[in-house]
Amino acid sequence: MQRLANKRILLGITGGIAAYKSAELTRLFKTAGAEVRVVLTPAGAEFITPLTLQALSGNPVHQHILDPEAEAGMGHIELAKWADLILIAPASADFIARMAAGMGNDLLTTLCLASDAPLLIAPAMNQAMWRDQRTQDNIGALKDLGMAILGPGIGDQACGDTGPGRMLEPQELAEFCAEQFANESLTGRHLVITAGPTREAIDPVRYISNHSSGKMGYALAEAAVESGARVTLISGPVNIDSPARVTLHSVNSAEEMLNASLNQLESCDIFIAAAAVADYRPIEVADQKIKKKTDQMQITLVKNPDIVTTVANSNNRPFTVGFAAETEHVIEHARDKMNRKGLDLIIANDVSQPGIGFNSDDNAVTVIQKDSEQRIPQTSKSQLARQLISLVAKAYETKN
Ligand code: PMT
Repeated sequence: MQRLANKRILLGITGGIAAYKSAELTRLFKTAGAEVRVVLTPAGAEFITPLTLQALSGNPVHQHILDPEAEAGMGHIELAKWADLILIAPASADFIARMAAGMGNDLLTTLCLASDAPLLIAPAMNQAMWRDQRTQDNIGALKDLGMAILGPGIGDQACGDTGPGRMLEPQELAEFCAEQFANESLTGRHLVITAGPTREAIDPVRYISNHSSGKMGYALAEAAVESGARVTLISGPVNIDSPARVTLHSVNSAEEMLNASLNQLESCDIFIAAAAVADYRPIEVADQKIKKKTDQMQITLVKNPDIVTTVANSNNRPFTVGFAAETEHVIEHARDKMNRKGLDLIIANDVSQPGIGFNSDDNAVTVIQKDSEQRIPQTSKSQLARQLISLVAKAYETKN
């Protein structure tokens, strides 16, 4: 259960007599050190009061999608992004049917549609409703979408029937939730991640840079936090907010990024270089804005230090991961980079493909290690980051 420490759990409660058990579930999550926010459907509120859940979770209970006051506190999309995990317990047959149909007609279904977090469903209903072919088809559809179905248990039911349909006990549900954070656990590890572009000054108002948005590196930082790691993010200039629970060091140039990285090395277990560092910088930076006096001008560039190579070759080197942004012979060039830079693992992305790579919300990569290659097809950078962190954690464990 200690894997739940500092995790953000969104608990959805729909209409069913088992809703009373969700109070105990909330208490178990809190005792394990998780942050809990409860979303209560109108039917759920017939079985348990928001006040009870507010007192147990220590947070206001979210009930309506069109509630200006709640939206001002934490909007529904913000709430969807906030969650490390969503558990619906109890999940009624009606809720399951609406989820299977992809509906977003209340706060809870909308949140589930809008979130990238793992979704766990604990059905609770009468045994005949559970056995009904339509319910079974809906459950099959949710499983196909990658959702985990927890239970239901078999036994006596509140209506007097006996059979499958009982919600699992709170302790069992909490343990299932803790297991979600098990196999990629980076608890106690310090990850340092570089992200975004660097800016190499020409004069006080101009610079050389590239199209990196920082989205990939920031998604990795978020996924690493979800896995229990302490995360330091060293970021070039980007337009995205720092993920919560991450220590952010903002830098501009490659030299600043190198110094910030070296400052972290003493305690760093895993270093991931997702930044698109400018390979060259102007040899001189003009003190004043350069005037437009000639038809042509030349700027002499000098090579920047290679940050990830410096880290990989330092004393006490951390497990070192690089990215390779390539436009041709992607795997061959990436493997060559991994060897030249002395990396443990490299993540190759084909930045010539539209819709992935620089400044897009999606990416598709091949994870290359000495004796293996693993292709991860196009998906959101958040989803991809979770898969990458899991692979990096396994490779790190194998090596250490
Ligand atoms: O930021 P986004 O818009 O989300 O885009 C993500 C990304 C495409 C920038 C990212 O997925 C990516 O591929 N990052 C690495 C880009 C890059 O500079 O690749 P490279 O092949 O030039 O460099 C290879 C590796 O060396 C990288 O890990 C890079 O961080 C590192 N490097 C490069 C030069 C340098 N001077 N120092 C370095 O550490």
